[in-house]
Amino acid sequence: MLHSKIVGLGHHVPDTVITNDYLSSRMETSNDWIVERTGIHERRWMNPAEDTVANMAAKASRIALQRANLSEKDIDFIVFATITPDYFFPGSGVLLQRELGLDGTIAALDIRNACSGFIYALSVADQFIKTGKFKTILVVGAEIQSTALDITTRGRNTAVIFGDGAGACILQASAKPGILSTHLHSDGRFAEELYVKDPGSSRPHEERQPDQILDTSTYKVVMNGNQVFKHAVVRFTEVIEEALNANSLKTEDISLLVPHQANLRISQYIQGKLGLSDCQVYNNIMRYGNTTAASIPIALSEAWAEGKIKENDLICLAAFGSGFTWASALIRW
Ligand code: UT7
Repeated sequence: MLHSKIVGLGHHVPDTVITNDYLSSRMETSNDWIVERTGIHERRWMNPAEDTVANMAAKASRIALQRANLSEKDIDFIVFATITPDYFFPGSGVLLQRELGLDGTIAALDIRNACSGFIYALSVADQFIKTGKFKTILVVGAEIQSTALDITTRGRNTAVIFGDGAGACILQASAKPGILSTHLHSDGRFAEELYVKDPGSSRPHEERQPDQILDTSTYKVVMNGNQVFKHAVVRFTEVIEEALNANSLKTEDISLLVPHQANLRISQYIQGKLGLSDCQVYNNIMRYGNTTAASIPIALSEAWAEGKIKENDLICLAAFGSGFTWASALIRW
């Protein structure tokens, strides 16, 4: 039986560091509020002269390839998770393909499942490898959130949370597991609890003409933070337990849980609920904020680089976000 294994990880974040004090100079908020309610100390925002979703993804991908001792030409397929593509269409998958010099030679697929996007992408790649269709797949999560944030007091509940960055992994066919299982869920009843409405297609023609748009607030991220928080803590815990049960494993078997970095309080709640120790959970939201589909691959890449992931470890990934969507993956490293 074919299995899939992560053989390389990389990440890239923009150089520009946005501190809580900087945000406090732009809106009514404070370092104390942000740290206490979210755990975030700083985040990165794109530099318009330099960063695009696709080129940050390319930088992360090249690091992952180098760590895997592979080159661009070894990639058979790209799966790209983002909700902030460089263009409304096409998705950033083809742009990454072009950045990597792989034009016309392989296929690129785009996934837009928000904070769960990376696990959805990993799951799709895992299926393609297990069926024998592809041998080496580049799986990426990359986002530029900063340009859609409302940087005024009106938008402070989202402006202080989100950040930009990219993470990548190389998934390869292997005789030994690998990815043990992935678990995907969604519930569209809550779509408008966390969303960006425009440029939506289901609008009268006149409302989609740029010169007619007077109110651009529908182009900004809208989130009902309390509602998202309440669902997140339940679904995160459920989907981690589902993955453990599917593999007859227990919480004490987890070497490292790498949760989507939504809010430090959410990670701490899940940790407490599952009875995990501090060294069983990896968090880096303090430095990057919530980078949506990029948060898990950035965190995985950092944890690996810090020596916190070793061969044979049991790694658990879990995410919850817009949609709502939620997902988990269990990996034997
Ligand atoms: O990536 C996956 C999806 N996202 C998440 O999982 C995020 C989930 N939600 C959250 O992380 C939290 O709900 C937030 C961090 C967004 C908000 O924290 P909270 O503790 O739930 O605050 P709240 O929304 O209940 O607001 C409490 C107060 C309100 O003021 P009043 O009505 O009590 O006077 C807000 O207006 O805090 C106010 N507030 C702020 N104050 C200072 C909201 N944002 C800010 C801010 N600075 N940035």
